[in-house]
Parts: sequence; structure tokens; C-alpha cells
Amino acid sequence: MSATKKFMTLERFINEQEQMHPSATGAFSGLLHDLSLAAKLVWREVSKAGLVNILGITDRMNVSGDVVKKLDEFADETVYKAMDHGGHLCVMASEENEDILHIPDNYPTGKYVLLYDPLDGSSNIDANITIGSIFSVYRRVTESGKGTLEDCLQPGSNQVAAGYIIYGSSTMFVYSTGRGVHGFTLDPSVGEFLLSHESITIPKKGKIYSLNEGNFCNWDEGMKRYVQYLKEQDKATNRPYSLRYIGTMVGDAHRTLLYGGIFAYPGDKKNPEGKLRLMYECNPMAFIFEQAGGKTSNGKQRILDVQPTSLHQHTPVFLGSEEDVKLCEEFLQGKR
Ligand code: AHG
Ligand code: MN
Ligand code: MN
Repeated sequence: MSATKKFMTLERFINEQEQMHPSATGAFSGLLHDLSLAAKLVWREVSKAGLVNILGITDRMNVSGDVVKKLDEFADETVYKAMDHGGHLCVMASEENEDILHIPDNYPTGKYVLLYDPLDGSSNIDANITIGSIFSVYRRVTESGKGTLEDCLQPGSNQVAAGYIIYGSSTMFVYSTGRGVHGFTLDPSVGEFLLSHESITIPKKGKIYSLNEGNFCNWDEGMKRYVQYLKEQDKATNRPYSLRYIGTMVGDAHRTLLYGGIFAYPGDKKNPEGKLRLMYECNPMAFIFEQAGGKTSNGKQRILDVQPTSLHQHTPVFLGSEEDVKLCEEFLQGKR
């Protein structure tokens, strides 16, 4: 019998990880199982978005001023409804909702907190370009009862789990609970996420940079000099780098995680704090990248060390291969 790869489903993997913690109650595993179901429910709609009338735009704007597309709303409601009755959460917060999301009174509450970007890359939905969902899990900091804003506004270093679902040529569930990063590919024929990328580690250095150069004129000098440097010819340092950017953070980050290099959304003269959200995009991705051996920064400090002050705050974000992010910081801090 050839040594085929073991048939490991996400459910079995979660259960096996739980067995490594004798004191585990099963609540954390239950939460992850619920997230896996939420992912499949969102995938089901995303995979047929072009066929049913959920494309197009609603008349709503979200708190960040982005126009909310119907699939955003569907994904937001789907995640909330998949997660609100499992008894593992005391509160949720979503990129699409201004305030925290309470657990309905008739459902039990638990000790975890979930923050999520239900649909990332909304502007790409109608063009059938890769989109994603992002999630971030914390333990509550308040004693009991309904969760509060304080439970949600924790530094990213307090995360107990984070991950994303990427709806691309295939759909993957990529996550970490602090024991490495693992990727599972959805097999639609059996409706299971199967282990396809165990212990993902990012190369120490890459040769791809991923950012929206359309903002070049508004960047500060250090950022401009860094990108110019990447474009110069120099065989010894593998330059020029290639530019790859699809405008969906989940897609650009996933490629950076697997191939190496750097993803960035810097602040600029118009938006000094950049466009991406600390709680729903940057903290979960920073957790993943650090677990995969990468480095993350807001230009000055580690993303996970930032103490949040508001639910929808933005942050400049640089994440990727350790050497690439280190070099970028040197340019940003005027050391190069
Ligand atoms: P969302 O769809 O959740 O609002 O996120 C969109 C974000 C992120 O996915 C992507 O990296 C970035 O917007 C692209 O912004 P630009 O179009 O300004 O490059
Ligand atoms: Mn997003
Ligand atoms: Mn979104």
C-alpha cells in the first residue's frame, strides 16, 4: 500500500489538538467546529454568487464608509447565526456592525470572544476575484454575564486563535491556535475541509511585494524609497522584486504566507492610519504570520502589541518574510 497522505479532516484535527490539552473542556473545540460550519455556509453562497441575485450593492455604508454589498450582509448574518447559540461566546464584533454584537438572551454564554470580517475583498465580488473571511478569538476578560466592549478591545497578543477562509480556485480554511499554522482544503464532494498544508512556514525572504502602488504619491519618503529600492536591478539581493496585488487582503496575505515577500497597506497623507482594520484584519493576520515564522509591524511596533482604543480603528500594516519586513522598517524609520 503506497504511503498516501493521512485523510485528516478539520474536525478530527481539532479533536486531536484538544486531546493534547487534558484540562480542555471541549468549549474551544466546539467554537472551532462552529466556525468550520459558518465557513461552509458562506462558501455555499459565495460559490454561486454569480447565479443568484446576491450580487450588486445595498444602500448601506459600513462604519468604515465602505459600500456594503449583499454578499457582505449575507456573510455577516450567516457567521453571527452560526455562532450565537453554541454557548462558547460571550460577545461578538463584526467589521460590518458599528457596535458589539450580544448573544441573544435565550442562549447560553461562554468564555470566548469572536471578532470577524465576514467578507474581505468586497470590491472583488462582482469580478469573481478571490475573496475571504477573517476571524479572531480571545478569552473574555470580564468575569461573567454579557460580554462587553472591554472583552473585545484586547491587544492581538491575547488572541487564542485566528484564521481565514479563502474562497479562491479552491476554498481553504487556514488557522492557528498558537501551535503553528495549518491549512485545510474544502472537498465539496464530501463537504469536509481536508488537511492539505500542515505547519505552514513562511520563507525567511521572498521576492514579491504586494501593495496598492496607486497610493504612491501620498506615501511618506521612507515608503517611496523602499519601493524604489525593490525595483532596482541587483542580482545579489534578488532584485527587482515582482509586484502581485489583487486587492483582497486574504488573497494577498495567503500568497505572501506561502511564497514569502511582503504585504503592506501603509498610512499616507490622506489616511495616516491606512485603510485596514486592526481588530478584524491586521491582528488575526499578524497572529497567523508570526505563528508561521514571519514578522509584522505597523511601521513602528509589532502589530500584536498595539493596545486598541476603538472597535474599528485602522492601522498601517506590514506583514511577511522576516528579512523583508525588517528591511522595510529600516526605510520607514529613516535608517536606510
Ligand atoms: P473589505 O472588503 O473587508 O472592506 O476589505 C477590503 C480591504 C482588503 O481586503 C484589501 O487589502 C484592501 O481593502 C484593498 O484596498 P485598496 O482597494 O485601497 O487597495
Ligand atoms: Mn476586509
Ligand atoms: Mn469586509
